[in-house]
Amino acid sequence: MLENNKMIRERNSSDTSSQIDQSRKVYIETYGCQMNLADTEIVNGILQKSGYSVNNNIDNSDIILLNTCSVRDHAEAKINQRLNELKRYKQKNPSLLIGVIGCMAERLRTELLDSKKQLDLITGPDEYRNLPRLIENVLETGERGIAVRLSRVETYDDIVPLRKEGISAWLAVMRGCDKFCSFCVVPYTRGRERSRNLGGVVHEVTQLWKDGFKEITLLGQNVNSYRSGENDFADLLRACAIAVPEMRIRFTTSHPQDLSVKLLETIAAHDNICSYIHLPVQSGSNRLLNLMKRSYNIEHYMGLIEKAREIIPDVSLSTDIIAGFPTESEEDHKMTLEVIKEVKYDGAYMFKYSPREHTKAYELKDSVDDEDKTRRLKEIIDLQTQISLERNSAMVGRKYEILIESLSRKSDRMYTGRTDGNKSVIIPVNGFKPGDRIMVKIIKANSATLFGEPVKG
Ligand code: SAH
Ligand code: SF4
Ligand code: F3S
Repeated sequence: MLENNKMIRERNSSDTSSQIDQSRKVYIETYGCQMNLADTEIVNGILQKSGYSVNNNIDNSDIILLNTCSVRDHAEAKINQRLNELKRYKQKNPSLLIGVIGCMAERLRTELLDSKKQLDLITGPDEYRNLPRLIENVLETGERGIAVRLSRVETYDDIVPLRKEGISAWLAVMRGCDKFCSFCVVPYTRGRERSRNLGGVVHEVTQLWKDGFKEITLLGQNVNSYRSGENDFADLLRACAIAVPEMRIRFTTSHPQDLSVKLLETIAAHDNICSYIHLPVQSGSNRLLNLMKRSYNIEHYMGLIEKAREIIPDVSLSTDIIAGFPTESEEDHKMTLEVIKEVKYDGAYMFKYSPREHTKAYELKDSVDDEDKTRRLKEIIDLQTQISLERNSAMVGRKYEILIESLSRKSDRMYTGRTDGNKSVIIPVNGFKPGDRIMVKIIKANSATLFGEPVKG
């Protein structure tokens, strides 16, 4: 009996202390890909449910978390610099808790804790459920915390993400990656592939529509690996498209190895699934694709592009390209330029190769010197910029439906919206509001942006 009383008293007293803690304000800064943006919303959901308040202002925060990216050295360098800047926040407020979460936490683990004395907490992408407990422990004991176990099952299926009100929402339908491309850290920082249940995703999408969202992007490192029982990604897309016929649906990323005709036909069959595919090619040289362990050759890739254009005539295409992968010759590089010219992508994300420790390509050494890498990247960017300009200019004079997203960054008298094909269009405010879907005529274009004027359907 006595023991019991004591336990109750202790529980009560810890309840009071956690109530004090519960008013603590958390600020999260997000780096890296859309997956991290979606994860930040999951973390905010978890923390808010545990009584923390989510803060948009870093200055009066009790807890600062950086949700980090390891994909290239540059990404990590930026975060290291930010961590150094954060020292002064800690000097001002010694009880401030600073944590690193996400991919860099997973990759560097104790190394990061050892090298950054201002850090109190390291948490990997599959340990977010434990964050409230971990934070509480740091606050109570003053001991620094680390949790970086990867999971084969965690999908945060039951967590309600805390999203900012808006037009467009992210929704991770799968986590992890099993592809092990030889240059890439993601399989190490994110662990094995696992998918959310189809019914759960459809339910969430329906709820998002009720909450006022007009567009969703289904996310996965390789959405074509999505599985829920007998259902694949095309089934999931179709189920979402039917459940919320007015919602615009996008997805990213497709790996070229297993992009199916069924998926292309599903996109073509539903007006609310955007005719836009991001299909990273990485290189135009089969020798390099093989060294990259991409598991397709350029003929297969070009065949997919052809099929995509045949099945979805107005499809927009974008890609990722790496310049200067180990052993890349001028000839390999020219093959990449050729692919860009042949496909005429609507857009591309272009990167200099960055060696990542523990990956397969790391053993090949970073053999292309930086001057060549820089020049090749520039040639790729220049070519793509010219093609983007050509493609955008061809849209001038034509009409497109856009979804208005927000005020444009440059003027509060202009809105920015996007076409089905993921092109940004700037239009005058003109009494419209974010969330409206309107027809516009394109009147001007540069390589990145289109300018439009509203017209009748
Ligand atoms: N899952 C996606 C890509 C995720 S990473 C896919 O497979 O398409 C996003 C992009 O970063 C990759 O497509 C690749 O172009 C680039 N990238 C990844 N690792 C890199 C590295 N070590 N150096 C340079 N670019 C890299
Ligand atoms: Fe990285 Fe390849 Fe997986 Fe994409 S598919 S995340 S590039 S390993
Ligand atoms: Fe970066 Fe991790 Fe995304 S390494 S690109 S934040 S999955």
